[in-house]
Parts: sequence; C-alpha cells; structure tokens
Amino acid sequence: MAPSNRTSIHGTWTGRWTFILAAAGSAVGLGNIWKFPYMVGEYGGGAFVLVYLICILLIGVPIMIAEILIGRRGRSSPANSMEYLAKEANTFPQWKALGVMGAIAGLLILSFYSVAAGWAISYVFEDFGGESANYYGEKFNLFLQDGSQLIFFHSLFIFITAFIVARGVIKGLEAWINRLMPILFVIVVLLCIYATQTGAFLEGVAYLFRPDFSKINATVVLAALGQAFFTLSLGMGAIMAYGAYMPAKQNIGSTALSVAFLDTTVAILAGIAIFPIVFANNLEPASGPGLVFVTLPWAFVNMPLGVIFGKLFFVLLSIAALSSAISLLEPGVAWLVESLKTNRFIASGILGLIAWTLGIFSALSFNILSDFTPLGDRNFFDSMDFLSNQVLLPLGGIFIAIFVGWVMKKNNVLEELELKDTLILRIWFFLLRFISPLMVAIVFCSAVFLGVVT
Ligand code: TRP
Repeated sequence: MAPSNRTSIHGTWTGRWTFILAAAGSAVGLGNIWKFPYMVGEYGGGAFVLVYLICILLIGVPIMIAEILIGRRGRSSPANSMEYLAKEANTFPQWKALGVMGAIAGLLILSFYSVAAGWAISYVFEDFGGESANYYGEKFNLFLQDGSQLIFFHSLFIFITAFIVARGVIKGLEAWINRLMPILFVIVVLLCIYATQTGAFLEGVAYLFRPDFSKINATVVLAALGQAFFTLSLGMGAIMAYGAYMPAKQNIGSTALSVAFLDTTVAILAGIAIFPIVFANNLEPASGPGLVFVTLPWAFVNMPLGVIFGKLFFVLLSIAALSSAISLLEPGVAWLVESLKTNRFIASGILGLIAWTLGIFSALSFNILSDFTPLGDRNFFDSMDFLSNQVLLPLGGIFIAIFVGWVMKKNNVLEELELKDTLILRIWFFLLRFISPLMVAIVFCSAVFLGVVT
C-alpha cells in the first residue's frame, strides 16, 4: 500500500528533513521559551510539568499524527482537505467547518502571539547593563505601560509574518529556518550552563521535576492540556497545512515523534535555564508573562560576552516566533487562495490586517484597556490566549481525533501511514479513538462545571 499521490497546488517540500524542520519551526517558538516557563510558575511547578508531559505523549503525539495524515492525504488547505476526506469517507461535507474554525483560531492566536513576539524584538535593543534582576522586572512593567511601543513592535512582527506567508511558505521557510534554529538551541544550552552557576540550580530543577500532587486540580490540568496543544501547534490545522506539503514517501509516525521530542526538549531546557535564576534572585515564579523578560536579561548581564549572546538570543527568539507565526496564518491564507482564487498577497494582507487589529486590543490591555475584561477577570490579551488555547484548540483536537479515529475508513488511514496492523499502530489508534477525545472531554467538562472557564 502506498500513500495517496495527489499533490498540493502550493508546492511540496523538497527534502525529507524539510517537513521535520518546518513542523519543528512551527512548534518551537514563544510557546516553549516564553509561555511554558511562566505557566509552570503560575500553576505550581513539577505538578504542571508532569501533567503537561502526559498530555504531550497521550494526546499530543496521536493527534499530531492524525493532523499530518489529514493534510497529506487531502493535499490542500485544512478546510479543503477536510472537505475532500469527508467526501472520500462518504460523510457530511460539514466537516469542512473544522478547517474553517482552525483558520479563525489561528488568527486569534496570531493576534496576541504577535504582541509577545514584539516584546522579544524590542529586547534585541537592550544593552544588558542592568544592575539587578529586579531592575529588569521594573523595566518590563514600564515597557508594558507604553502602548505605542507595544503596538509598534506588534505591527512590525505581523507585517513580516504576512510578507513571508505572501511569498509562499515553501520559499519563505526552507531557505533559512534550517540554519538558524540550531543556533538558538545552542544558546539555550549555554543559558542552562549559566544556570548551574547561580547557586540555585538544584532548587530550580527540583521545582520543575518534583511534583507536588496536591497542586493538581481541574484548572491545572486544563492549562497543561491547552499548553500541550499550543506548544505542538495542534488543533487548528497548522500541522495539517504543512502536512499537505509533505513528500509522499516520508513516514508520518516517526516524524511526529521527532517533532514532539524536539519541542519538549526545548521547553524543558528553557525551564532549566530560567528557574534557577528565579530562585537565586528571590523572584516570584508566578510573575506571569514577563518571567523570561526579567530572568534571562539578568543572566546575560552576568555572562561573559553576555551582550553578544543576549542580542543574538533575542534575535533568534524573534525568528523562532516568526517561524511559528507563519504557520498560524498559512491555513487561512491557503484556504482563501484556493476558494476565492485570489493571490497569496491579497489573502495574507487581509488576514494579517484582521490579526493586527485584534492585536491592538491585546497590546492596549496592559495599559489603557487594563480594566476591560471580556472573559472572567482576564484582560483582553489573556482572554484571547484562554479562548484559543484552552477552548478552541482542545475542541479542534477532539474533532480531529474523532475524524481520523472513527470517520475515515481504516484502510485509507493505514494506506497513508504505510503501516501494517502492528502493535504500535494499535496503540496509536486506541489512543486516538478513545483516550484523546475522552481525556479532552473530561478535562473540559470538569473545568466548565468547576467554573474555571468563566
Ligand atoms: N507552537 C508555537 C509555539 O510554541 C505556536 C504556534 C504556531 C501554534 N502554530 C500554532 C499554536 C498553531 C497553536 C496552533 O510558540
């Protein structure tokens, strides 16, 4: 049996490695280096990490395989791939809505992601000469008060993202992601080495890996689940869109495992780098979205050649964010291009503008709009984050799992995976059909009933 031999109008990645790098480029981003550490701090350390790792393995990896599979078999934008596969499975064409919803979720995420990416860009201009970690805490808070600066960097980031997507993901990405991401990895390792010198290394590592089980509750589990989806770029069609450009010969299962492994490693290393600095300087682990922007600059102040490493780090972090942001825009752009027959420039212009406009509200939610709380007591930025990551992505994930696990013909699934009925396949199929949808549903319902959502 061989995978289907349809091809995508947007092109195909050339090499075997390109898909892995592109998917890893999508997965590794602010989610690993900015969001993971501050969520760990907010939700109680090791307990959160443990639940997060379980979610990655039991829910994330199976759903990632399902997403790649849908994309590669459909060979179009997520919405049209879903439509095609629904037809192939003789079922309702309305499954297409899953792709459309994903494209919308992508815009919501991009809108606040871009604001945070703007922070990373602005730190490229830092001189790493501050006198204490607290100095960087105050500096970050002052920066948040300055709405026009936040909007400036947000605009810059969205513009570059839309421009690259307009030129075509394949051309735009293949050229340089491959070379830059390994360097980011090296600097993160250097930061971990610095962390061993802080005097609080063991404390930091224990905080990450020693779970306090009393801290596990519905809120924590939902947050960890949302983060697992977010960090692997799952639930909204990003990986599906990239799957459409994947060569037919590549093995889907081992690819998904490599991407998940790489992504998790970067997140854990970021945690190992950051928490020793937190404890050595008596900072508050639960200090929220500013955590990396307070701890790491202080690490660079103290490191030999810190100014160079610091600037390089924030350049690379911005680029990592960019390669993720591209995948947030691509599903919607590919869909507009296919269905309206417009060109990529117009499509990414329109969608970029929508995300930009929404992002303005996020940028202002730290200053003049700080009293505007659309969801519970969350400001606009946090509301977008919550709505997309903890609601839309898990919901998208459930339907993706149900579609591949229950709706598609098993023969077609096997054909696309190029797998015989092996044990591994059975485990994957079991996880996909029962465990992932059920776990997501349970977490979801208990969170709703326990009032976490409002
Ligand atoms: N995974 C990226 C990160 O960790 C963010 C991202 C890119 C994303 N594409 C996505 C999140 C699609 C959810 C869905 O920074």
